Amino acid sequence: MNYNLLKGKRGIITGALDERSLAWKIAKRAHDEGAIFTLSNAPVALRMGSLQKLASTINTEVIPADATSVVEIEELYKKSIELLGGKIDFILHSIGMSPNVRKQIPYTEMNYDFFQKTLDISGSSLHKMLSVAYKMDAINEWGSVVSLSYIAAQRVFPFYGDMADAKALLESITRSFGYHYGKFRKVRINTISQSATPTTAGTGIKGFDDFYKYSDQIAPLGNASADSCADYCITLFSDLTKMVTMQNLYHDGGYSTTGVSTDLIK
Ligand SMILES: NC(=O)c1ccc[n+]([C@@H]2O[C@H](COP(=O)([O-])OP(=O)(O)OC[C@H]3O[C@@H](n4cnc5c(N)ncnc54)[C@H](O)[C@@H]3O)[C@@H](O)[C@H]2O)c1
Repeated sequence: MNYNLLKGKRGIITGALDERSLAWKIAKRAHDEGAIFTLSNAPVALRMGSLQKLASTINTEVIPADATSVVEIEELYKKSIELLGGKIDFILHSIGMSPNVRKQIPYTEMNYDFFQKTLDISGSSLHKMLSVAYKMDAINEWGSVVSLSYIAAQRVFPFYGDMADAKALLESITRSFGYHYGKFRKVRINTISQSATPTTAGTGIKGFDDFYKYSDQIAPLGNASADSCADYCITLFSDLTKMVTMQNLYHDGGYSTTGVSTDLIK
C-alpha cells in the first residue's frame, strides 16, 4: 500500500549493499512513496555489491562516497543537489563496519587502530555528513535525517564488540547535532534502533543466529523485519513526524521493554 508520503521530496540514501540491506528496502519503499533520491556507498562496496542494479530499477544514480571522507561527502551533496534539482529533504545514514568484529577479535583484546576505524565509519561518519550539510546549508527546513542503531548501545551483547561503543557514539551525535540543526533549520535527526536483521553486517557478527532467535522469542511481536523497518523510516522522512527529533526510537517488536517471555521460559 502506498500513500505518496514522500511526494516532492529529495533525498540521499547511503548503505545499500545488496538486496538484504536495510537501506535497499528503505530505498525501494521511498521510491514507492514518490521520493526522488540518489544512492551512495563506499567505492569498495560498489565493486562488491549490486547497487547499480537497484539504481537502474528505480531510475536513479549512484554517487560513490566513503562516509569517513569530508571531501567525498561534499561531492555527494553537490552532485545530489545538482541531479535532483534542489536541496535535500531527507538523508538515510545506514553505515556500519568494525574491523575488530570482522576479524573476531574479542572486545577485551581489541586492536585500537581498528577501534578508531569502527568509531569513524560507524559513528563519526554521521557527524561528518551532518557537519558538511550544515556548512553547505544542503538540507531544506523541516528536513529529516535517520540513522540506524542497535540496542547494544544500552545493554551488553558480548559478541557485538566495539560496535556497541560506536552505536553509543552515533546516538549521542544524534542528540547533540539534533539540537544545533533543529535551531538552525528545524532539521530533525533520529536513530531507529532496529531488531537483529539478517543482512551482511548483521550476520557478520559471531552468534548472530542465536541472538536473532533469542530476541524473536522475547519480543511479543517477534523481531521487526527489514521491510517493516523501511515502513517506519518512511514515516520519519515524511511530514507526519515533524516534531520528532533527537530520539533513539526502538523498532523491535517490544523486545527492549520485555523482561522475560513465556516462550523463552518454555
Ligand atoms: N542487521 C542488523 O541486525 C542491524 C540491526 C540494527 C542496526 N543495524 C545497522 O543498520 C545499518 C545498515 O546495516 P545492514 O544491516 O543493512 O547491513 P549492510 O552490510 O547491508 O549495510 C552496511 C553498509 O555500510 C556500508 N559502509 C561500510 N563502510 C562504509 C564507509 N566507509 N562509507 C560508506 N559506507 C560504508 C557498507 O558498504 C554497507 O552498504 C548499520 O549501521 C547497522 O549497524 C543493523
